[in-house]
Amino acid sequence: MMNEEHLKDLITYLKFPSISTDSSYSNDVKDCAEWLTNKMIDKGLESQIYETPGHPIVVGKNKHREGLPTVMIYGHYDVQPADPLDLWESPPFEPRIDEGKIYARGSTDNKGQNLAHLLGLGEIINEEGELPVNVILLVEGEEEIGSPNLGPFLEKYRDELSCDVIAVSDTGMIGPGIGTFTYGLRGIACMEVTLHGPSTDLHSGVFGGSIANPSTAIARIISSLHDSDGKIQVPGFYDDVREIQEWERDAWASLPVNEAETLELTGSSELFGEKGFTDAERRWARPTAELNGIGGGYQGEGSKTVIPSKSFAKLSFRLVPDQDPEKILKLVQEHLESHLTPGTRIECEFGHSGKAYLMDPQSDYGKAAQNALRETFGCEPALIREGGSIPIVQTFKDVLGADTLLLGLALPDCQIHAPNENFLIKNFYDGIRLNRLLIKEISN
Ligand code: BES
Ligand code: ZN
Repeated sequence: MMNEEHLKDLITYLKFPSISTDSSYSNDVKDCAEWLTNKMIDKGLESQIYETPGHPIVVGKNKHREGLPTVMIYGHYDVQPADPLDLWESPPFEPRIDEGKIYARGSTDNKGQNLAHLLGLGEIINEEGELPVNVILLVEGEEEIGSPNLGPFLEKYRDELSCDVIAVSDTGMIGPGIGTFTYGLRGIACMEVTLHGPSTDLHSGVFGGSIANPSTAIARIISSLHDSDGKIQVPGFYDDVREIQEWERDAWASLPVNEAETLELTGSSELFGEKGFTDAERRWARPTAELNGIGGGYQGEGSKTVIPSKSFAKLSFRLVPDQDPEKILKLVQEHLESHLTPGTRIECEFGHSGKAYLMDPQSDYGKAAQNALRETFGCEPALIREGGSIPIVQTFKDVLGADTLLLGLALPDCQIHAPNENFLIKNFYDGIRLNRLLIKEISN
């Protein structure tokens, strides 16, 4: 039976425009954290807000008892910006329900998924008086900006946060109704490049042909990142890449996902990528170099004959085990510097980064997670890795020594980070059941 109160809670949660990257929303982020801490208390947990130099971290706990396993559940209440706003069919922070889906920024990524965990815990507490495990529910407000304050928070409260295993619902399902266990994530490393040329914008007729154009020069260095087949050309980039295992290739090849679906989901006419790898292999287990934004020079209507004085590019690299983000950024910087046009100067600013994550899906906790998925969805769970990143997951392993079970509820067409983000309401309720079954499995 579907509990209407749960849906009401989700709607309230989704109304906070808790956009972490834009400081003009800081108060909304704070209000959202306060609502969440009160909701944890309301559901029978003790809860506290921890201030950070950035956005607050909300932690809920039950009364811990000696001898019980301790499970940390992690999620994030911050969301991506909603723009471009004109592409939304209804306002992003006014949740709308249509054909079994709830549309709002953050519905899937990640409010719907972390609220499902909290409500699952609340149901157990309500029915049984207490949880059969020790729980630490940690929900942060900075995941979408690379969790800059969560690593230091883990170090500081290492003892209080010590746990046996971590559960996270912030990844995908390969299709509706197919429980999916994600045992690996790609890492990430970000870099901003500014290419400086003349000290001021110049008339392109007066000086063109004799002075390097920074926009042309940046296009040149960016195109040096790949060959025409999409293979990355940065020397040493692939050196530490761990090969995909045979069982993974076989398992992924037999999944009910195919390249036609990727074309449909993306609206692209053709796949393009590294030769010798399937679509799933490329997205889940091969590294990339992406140009996320590029600018400089005249962007307005009509033409303007100018040589801009500078140009910029925003780059990010998706990484796989055992690539090291710092090492990769340095290799890239050296490579870019070696492709400079005379008369230009490059400035590389390293952004946030995080290592890839990989666990053994057949570990005891991995099996417990798969049991919970099997029971929730009534079918054999798909075993996958994901192309997206949750950088804190490897930090959990490094600092707390615990594996993270990734039990995602995002559907391929849920539009995370894009206009009309949505969450299948059935997945919300399945998520609540999944949490309950997971807690039971871990307590056994
Ligand atoms: N939930 C996503 C990551 C994700 C999406 C994993 C889909 C698997 C499948 C997460 O909120 C996210 O978007 N992460 C960012 C991290 C970055 C900003 C450091 C990402 O992957 O771009
Ligand atoms: Zn996200």
